[in-house]
Amino acid sequence: MEDITKHPILDIPERKSVSFSFDGRKLTGFEGMVISSALFLNKIKIFGHHVKDNSPQGIFCANGQCAQCNVIVNNIPVKACMTPLKEGMIIESCNGLPELPPEDKAVNVGDSEFIDTEVLIIGAGPAGLSAAKILGEQNINVIIIDDKAELGGKLVLQTHKFFGSQKDVYAGKRGIDIAKILGNSVRSLSNVRIWLDSVCLAVFSDGLVGILKENKKYALIKPKYLLIATGAREKMLLFPGNTLPGVYGAGAFQTLVNRDLIKASEKVFIVGGGNVGLIAGYHAIQAGIEVIGLIEALPQCGGYKVHEDKLRRLGVPILTSHTIISANGEKNVKSITIAQIDKELNTISGTEKTFACDTILIAVGLNPVNEFYQKAKEFGFKVWVAGDAQEIAEASAAIFTGRIEALKILKEMRISITEDIGKLEDFADLMKAKPPHPIEIDIKFKEEGVYPVFYCNQEIPCNPCTTVCEQEQIVTIDNIITQLPYFKGEKECIGCGKCVAVCPGLAVVLIDYRKDQDNPLVTFPFELTKEKLEKGQKVIVVSNDKDLNTYEIHRARTLKEFPKTQLVTIKMPSEFAKQATAIKLFETKYSKPIDLYQKSLTNDDTIVCRCERVSVGEIRKWIHSGVTDFNELKALTKVGMGACGGKTCTPLIERIFREEGISIDEITPGTKRPLFIEVPMGIFANAKNKKEEL
Ligand code: FES
Repeated sequence: MEDITKHPILDIPERKSVSFSFDGRKLTGFEGMVISSALFLNKIKIFGHHVKDNSPQGIFCANGQCAQCNVIVNNIPVKACMTPLKEGMIIESCNGLPELPPEDKAVNVGDSEFIDTEVLIIGAGPAGLSAAKILGEQNINVIIIDDKAELGGKLVLQTHKFFGSQKDVYAGKRGIDIAKILGNSVRSLSNVRIWLDSVCLAVFSDGLVGILKENKKYALIKPKYLLIATGAREKMLLFPGNTLPGVYGAGAFQTLVNRDLIKASEKVFIVGGGNVGLIAGYHAIQAGIEVIGLIEALPQCGGYKVHEDKLRRLGVPILTSHTIISANGEKNVKSITIAQIDKELNTISGTEKTFACDTILIAVGLNPVNEFYQKAKEFGFKVWVAGDAQEIAEASAAIFTGRIEALKILKEMRISITEDIGKLEDFADLMKAKPPHPIEIDIKFKEEGVYPVFYCNQEIPCNPCTTVCEQEQIVTIDNIITQLPYFKGEKECIGCGKCVAVCPGLAVVLIDYRKDQDNPLVTFPFELTKEKLEKGQKVIVVSNDKDLNTYEIHRARTLKEFPKTQLVTIKMPSEFAKQATAIKLFETKYSKPIDLYQKSLTNDDTIVCRCERVSVGEIRKWIHSGVTDFNELKALTKVGMGACGGKTCTPLIERIFREEGISIDEITPGTKRPLFIEVPMGIFANAKNKKEEL
């Protein structure tokens, strides 16, 4: 592994080196990194071994949710993915159960900070920031907290341009830039206090919220109004080898690559064809990582067709109606075995194939992080929920729902608002809707003039091409944001290329027949290298399903408003111009399947509860014996009793119940008790070692 030193979209900052040790080895990381990223930088993916079966442990979520990444720092187990690296840190792997410190030192107990505020927002991602902006602009006293070191939540991982509308959700801008825009506007509001590196530990029945402030001090906040914008956690999947280091969530991969600038893999395989998986594939390619393939269990990918097209054009094999059979390797992922499935989702015998890879990304959906919301409701807080914690959708929808929930809080405060919340909610529903099947479109080309061509054939909420056209000639049918765009042609296109540069799906090209009717100029967007492409350079022109031909670049430029999207113009025969959708620099190297002796796999090779290493076989055994109570399952197997508190395994166990013919209504749910996040007990007393205080 290595750090990323150039990237087509991300600016690479000068980073100060930080020395640390891991199990006695002297290593170097970079300032501002968390421990897990520093270990990955040093090619270390195994952070310890489990007490139950000595299985290797590494990261899964890189987001503080799964509790897999424990390491020992100063005798205390910490989550490697959430703990900032410090100069001289002595880090040890966590093998077996962490031990208590050898001597029990006396401590001094400190007071907790008590703070009243009008609004407390938990989570400074797209929804939380957008809400803080609305409330702060109304002079409401707000505290917004986030467990990360910077504002923006998942926005800081998103190098692609956003969908939606420019007016409402900054469509056409990249997530990383939206994080800055929203973050700066919230920072400029003096009545909004921002606490970073601050974790919400619990909501209490007396209306207080317990926070570990800035990773140091316990604070209790009494908010009049509470907004939960805690985002989502990644779903796990059941298959043999599912906890091997090297199997991790697509969000974890984006954190390593796009936030911490680690080239976390050489060859990655993606499981899941929703937007998260498709986007992670494109991000991998931008970071110089080979994407061996992507599989999707359904007959079509569930993500946006334009994201899928981007990957297909670059030659990534996308195999629908396929599933993962196993992740293979003793200590780390060495390969993946996949197979085709039928309509009933049964594996079709004989279709198994194995591909070498070092990383398998699980991108099979997200679950809302809503336990604080549920508890706060139960305890009678005045509480609202926004973003993914409310309903899983695109980050652009989260920006919008943050705004709506903030307006609802203002209404509750009897502050007059001019916006019609009902109308905004209707629009939010559009933004949150699952993408429909793509439509067959028959593009009409005329061999004269200059005009944009839209390879956009799915009714998704997106229209920045309509707002960016200075000639006001690009519209959607009936001006509805989910309808497909088209060029009206009432006024001439001036060939500015803004519609090509703004399109988040990279699905617009410009065809110019003005100088040569047989060999028009075609302009494509390009976002795959930092180096500026040059006139005369050879590139491969592709359609959405095949390579067409190699041509020399006629012209390459960037527009001031879109500095990271190169506009590359190529002259080509009209018959190719009518199919061409993109360019690429290299021919695709397709990976061939490898031979692998597959030992027979059983239900006991698949882990449900990562923390306590409970297998599918164990759970099924107790379900077969009549257990339908989660608490009983816990007592019998320890499932859900580990450090993560059942956050990762609960949806998987519900799925096993369903597979066994038992519906959710027939199951007695497990009791959920605060705390929802692990924390050293001394934090509650603001305990300090006496010696440290001297
Ligand atoms: S990888 Fe650190 S908590 Fe999940």
